[in-house]
Amino acid sequence: MTVAAMRHDFEIQPLTPRLGAEVTGVDLAQPLDDQAFALIRDAFDRRLVLVFRDQHLPEPAHIAFSRRFGALEVHVLNQYLDTRFPELYVISNVGPDGKPRGVHPDRGTMVWHTDLSFTRVPSYATILYGVEIATTGGDTMFADMLSAYEALPEATKTEIAGLRAVHDLDVSRRKAGDDPLTADQRAKAPPVDHPVVRLHGPSGRRGLYLGSHASHIEGWPQDKGEALIRQLVAHATEKRFVYRHRWRHGDLVMWDNRATLHRATDYDTGNDRRIVRRTVVTGEVPVPG
Ligand code: SIN
Repeated sequence: MTVAAMRHDFEIQPLTPRLGAEVTGVDLAQPLDDQAFALIRDAFDRRLVLVFRDQHLPEPAHIAFSRRFGALEVHVLNQYLDTRFPELYVISNVGPDGKPRGVHPDRGTMVWHTDLSFTRVPSYATILYGVEIATTGGDTMFADMLSAYEALPEATKTEIAGLRAVHDLDVSRRKAGDDPLTADQRAKAPPVDHPVVRLHGPSGRRGLYLGSHASHIEGWPQDKGEALIRQLVAHATEKRFVYRHRWRHGDLVMWDNRATLHRATDYDTGNDRRIVRRTVVTGEVPVPG
């Protein structure tokens, strides 16, 4: 569809039948008027993942665009924060000598997760800009948790209704092989519980709310809970629910953390450079679906 409204003339094209849309013809480094912003927000509510092409986005413009969606988080993992702009979380494999370090900087991003689900008030949206993209790999994949929930057998929907999962950053960091939290980070990010099925406000649809930060199901034996989480995430990340984003120079990608899971894919961390930075917009306490 071409969106032509007053002075606005940008294109929004679906990327898969249900998930994702590509937006072209808009310059996010310039302030957006309310009407243009409303068009973008409406597309975001419906498509859950938006890909903006051909952006040149200095840090302040990245932050300014993000703030249109709400307050920004400062992540508890302070080792990733930009020292000048703490709202920016930087994932880079480039060392102080300018060379690729040969290790993935944040392995936890390579398993299916939703940002900040380990907090009491998890995130609404993440807005990720590709500063330098890998020549091969380093893609980002997204899974549509609303469609995944709707496709579950009725018996499973009945089984999981009312369940709550415990989300724990320390557990997910250790499982991914990342550095464990410091004592201070641990104190700031205690485990929290959230409904396994949550209501997505803008659409009124129900979705699965799980991912790698979900360590177990409240009140269930550890093994049984882990098995259920594994089974539901495996279902939700089947190809039919997934959009795989292959980065191009100038891409900015944003996603709805309330209704999607995402993960990064591997790349040659010893030879290829990849630097991405993101803001995370504060959301709301999940409403059980
Ligand atoms: C993230 O999980 O927030 C980052 C994903 C990526 O590096 O592609």
